[in-house]
Amino acid sequence: MKNIIVGILTAGIIALMVMTAMRGHAWQGGEAGHIIENIGNKTNASANNEQAKAEDDRKIEQDKLKALRDKAGNVGKFKVSDDFKQKCASCHGMNGEGIIGPKLIGQSSDVIYKKLMDYKSGRKENLVMKGLLLSLDKDKLKELSIEIGEFEQRAKALK
Ligand code: HEC
Repeated sequence: MKNIIVGILTAGIIALMVMTAMRGHAWQGGEAGHIIENIGNKTNASANNEQAKAEDDRKIEQDKLKALRDKAGNVGKFKVSDDFKQKCASCHGMNGEGIIGPKLIGQSSDVIYKKLMDYKSGRKENLVMKGLLLSLDKDKLKELSIEIGEFEQRAKALK
């Protein structure tokens, strides 16, 4: 009788041990292991989220930058000549709206031409404009003046 009780108890203990072993520890890939795996997956997921968010932020920054550039006149509403773009737009704006240099759009060709000739000849003192215009001949200045004189119409044609 004593032997039978001991036998049953032993069997019970062995059964418990087997069950525990089957549920498993972390290093056995059991339940605890799944929990750790889940935590791992969650961390990955949030890392992905953060990456996506960083990407979004970068996009927003880029849009802001683009808006600023547009404002600074890097992108014109209407087309201008390469000459104006390269030689004048950096200071006067892509469409002559004015940045460091005064606003040119709205002024007539004749007025622009006269002002340019005044700088070139030294009648009007301005080191920036004079230095710049030294390398441009009268014909080029006339051409640019005519173009600038047309800016207002080009802008209106867009509306
Ligand atoms: C480095 C900057 C810069 C560049 C490039 C530049 N300008 Fe200017 N421009 C100025 C500044 C500054 C003034 C104002 C000078 C003053 O106070 O007299 C000015 C004045 C003028 C004026 C007189 C405007 C007014 O209403 O009094 C005209 C016209 C003009 N620029 C045309 C041009 C043209 C055309 C070009 C390209 C060939 C050009 N500028 C390139 C800086 C620049």
